[in-house]
Amino acid sequence: MADIVWWKESVVYQIYPISFMDSDGDGHGDLRGIYDKLDYLTDLGIDVIWICPIYESPGHDNGYDISDYYAIMRKYGTMEDFDRLLEEAHKRGLKIMMDLVLNHTSDEHPWFAESRSMKDNPKRDYYIWRSGKHGQLPNNWESYFGGSVWKLDPETNEYYLHLYSEHQPDLNWDNPQMAEEMYEMVHWWLEKGVDGFRFDAVAHIAKAEGLPSAHNPDNLPVVPAYQLFSNLQQVHSILNKLNDMILKPYGPMTVGETSGLGPEQALAYVGTDRNELNMVFQFEHMFVDAQSSGIGKWNYREWKLPELKEIMSQWQTVLHGRGWNANYMGNHDQPRPVSRFGDDGKYRVRSAQMLATWMLTLEGTPYIYQGEEIGMTNIAFPDIEQYRDIETMNYYRHHIGQGRSKQDVMEAIWLKSRDNARTPMQWDDSEHAGFTKGEPWIQVNDNFTEINVAAAESDPQSILHYYRKLISLRKKNKVLIYGAYELLLADDPDIYAYTRTLDDEKVLVILNFSSNEPEMHWPEGWAAEQAKLMICNVNKRYSTDEGTILLQPYEARVYRML
Ligand code: NOJ
Repeated sequence: MADIVWWKESVVYQIYPISFMDSDGDGHGDLRGIYDKLDYLTDLGIDVIWICPIYESPGHDNGYDISDYYAIMRKYGTMEDFDRLLEEAHKRGLKIMMDLVLNHTSDEHPWFAESRSMKDNPKRDYYIWRSGKHGQLPNNWESYFGGSVWKLDPETNEYYLHLYSEHQPDLNWDNPQMAEEMYEMVHWWLEKGVDGFRFDAVAHIAKAEGLPSAHNPDNLPVVPAYQLFSNLQQVHSILNKLNDMILKPYGPMTVGETSGLGPEQALAYVGTDRNELNMVFQFEHMFVDAQSSGIGKWNYREWKLPELKEIMSQWQTVLHGRGWNANYMGNHDQPRPVSRFGDDGKYRVRSAQMLATWMLTLEGTPYIYQGEEIGMTNIAFPDIEQYRDIETMNYYRHHIGQGRSKQDVMEAIWLKSRDNARTPMQWDDSEHAGFTKGEPWIQVNDNFTEINVAAAESDPQSILHYYRKLISLRKKNKVLIYGAYELLLADDPDIYAYTRTLDDEKVLVILNFSSNEPEMHWPEGWAAEQAKLMICNVNKRYSTDEGTILLQPYEARVYRML
């Protein structure tokens, strides 16, 4: 039997605070809004709330550009509001996980103001500065948000490095004073009583020595260079140190955002012997519908279910007994899962329930992103002016500038823009979906009159009620948490089926990822009479001949072996 640890048995709910609940009518969500919804979260049955950054920030990237790690962004409230939220959450047995950005700060952080002011300022080296090479950029790395990672700063006529937007200069983790100040800050939040951290972009905090240019056979101005700033050895040394010096006595839950790795590589972070992170967010399944990773996300490709199964199964099996997974199908950077992996039209409810069944029956800690529990969908604003995301706006500007048609560019945006997941939470069918009494910072999805929490509460068949059942089922059945995973029917184009086994307990999960009605045989060792249905998302299952199971579109079933 595996060790029992709280963060393995927890279900996490992710809040994107600007879009969750606005208590004061300024059109932005805030901490009091979260406070007011604690009952809702307790009723859902979750254990941990991960709150995306709420620190002081000019907001170019909705808080991922921090200008003061010790203060709360005014729009979100005050430190007293935070303390009250933390206390009230703890009273209810809920834990709070902070989102910490260690890779970069805002360009309005006082460190950066000092750093850019003079070449010999003591904080110069807190960031990464280089002079150009013969009038050229210091290297050819492409930024995650398009264009070069280098920005020329007129103050000193040198370039600073930014993997994300130019308002997010990268910190230099080779500088020991800077590292020290960061460790201290993490300690300060732990002393305050927070229960965990999601370390943003942590894979990138170390860059290849000498910042060499990436291979560039076509001689382009900039090229993707992920391998030169992702998952390098020095990241592991920094995390080890962070654990030893700061985290250990507090035992917080930690999850790192680490793109660009497979499960074997992930063990370097999450291996039980590593002293680094509890789990990581991997990205392989997030690129199943893309031509390539990183910026290639915008170029859609048709995906097939066996590909998704293969990716997830690798993670499930490689980490079993050696590390721990963080399972998610959406977040504030990704399209809405029901629109992406399910059907947001005719089968919206059923497919969202099927996807939920998937997430809640895998090995690893499940993360639910706000709105998933009511099946919120993508948006397709007709005009770029309606979008707010810096990445989306950069993408639009760049590609229109290159001569692509507006229609073409907008189609990519409708599929992949991060704003798909950032429209306000839909609480009821009143104006602005009950999210705000003012003008929302981004338009509410028009479908709020149909898709909202109040409607879901009053419908016993809703996605929300189904989530509650699933979460409680997971809690009551350790096999769903710790059981070993085995994939069945690897090549089936419609059905994703697997078993979970813990000692003498065995569970069978059957998910139909399609609008077809596929049929399968009971797997070896299983039989209708010896299987007890634990949960299912259709009311009337097709009566089946002995030996076969006929599924309805997007049907999900979980059986326990008797
Ligand atoms: C990942 C965050 O999830 C995303 O929203 C942000 O833009 C980048 N890191 C930069 O901090």
